[in-house]
Amino acid sequence: MGAKLENGVVISNDQIAKDIYSMFIKAPNIANSVEMPGQFINLYPKEKHTILPRPISICEVDSKEETIRVVYQVVGDGTGQFAKLKREDEIQVSGPIGNGFDISGDHREHLLVGGGVGVPPLLELSKRLKGNVTVVLGFRDEPYLIEDFEKYGAKVYVATESGKHGSKGNVLDILKQEDIKIDMAYSCGPKPMLKALNSWCQEKDIPVQVSLEERMACGIGVCVGCVCKKKDSGNKDGWSYKKTCTDGPVFMGSDVIWDE
Ligand SMILES: Cc1cc2nc3c(=O)[nH]c(=O)nc-3n(C[C@H](O)[C@H](O)[C@H](O)COP(=O)(O)OP(=O)(O)OC[C@H]3O[C@@H](n4cnc5c(N)ncnc54)[C@H](O)[C@@H]3O)c2cc1C
Ligand code: FES
Repeated sequence: MGAKLENGVVISNDQIAKDIYSMFIKAPNIANSVEMPGQFINLYPKEKHTILPRPISICEVDSKEETIRVVYQVVGDGTGQFAKLKREDEIQVSGPIGNGFDISGDHREHLLVGGGVGVPPLLELSKRLKGNVTVVLGFRDEPYLIEDFEKYGAKVYVATESGKHGSKGNVLDILKQEDIKIDMAYSCGPKPMLKALNSWCQEKDIPVQVSLEERMACGIGVCVGCVCKKKDSGNKDGWSYKKTCTDGPVFMGSDVIWDE
């Protein structure tokens, strides 16, 4: 199903942590087209000098209410404009875009690992998985969405760099300390975290799906600004470029060439 362009209507837009906002957008065509957790939408800032859309992961989708929830951090001009939106404001949205997490297997013990703004797409994933879900989340300081994961029945561990919340350290420290049963791991967050998790999973022979949040320009597969290197046995070099926006953002960790 292709991405749809729609004038969404803001239902709510609330600050939930320092610089972090949770926005619900009524966008019936897109909400009814989301196929996989881990897909994202392109949100268009209103002011003309910010021409390019901003890719933001789908945090939750409610097809009955025809809403999409996004949770975003204000880091610059585009996200700063989103934070000013009020109930009933319009926002142009396109999506759903990309290949999300594959949940078609019969795995029962799921590990979800998120870091910073990589945490939001794991919420819709935790809702859809069948079996036991353990979530390990890393934040710089203030955690968010913890109660949302618990509401859907996940066991949640939190690590913060500051140590003010959860345990001091990072997500790998928790994985090394705790004895968590895992058939399949899923992750989204900063690349160093994904790379370290991938190595840990390879050592333990656990398959891991990773969502890469590369910098994007067009976000729809046209500009080739978001490529990553993926192993490719059909190519004479043993690898080929893939577009993170439309071939990903989710890939098997074992297929990604991490050292580039
Ligand atoms: C597939 C995908 C899903 C994403 N999902 C989310 C999400 O759910 N929540 C969320 O808060 N953010 C998410 N992001 C990141 C988000 O797109 C950027 O933060 C946003 O585009 C910044 O726009 P801006 O105009 O506010 O900042 P800009 O003015 O464009 O940039 C401000 C600063 O942020 C940095 N930056 C911008 N984009 C990225 C990026 N992709 N990775 C690392 N640094 C970046 C820039 O280098 C600069 O330092 C996602 C990105 C991708 C590619
Ligand atoms: S962002 Fe343009 S091709 Fe991916």
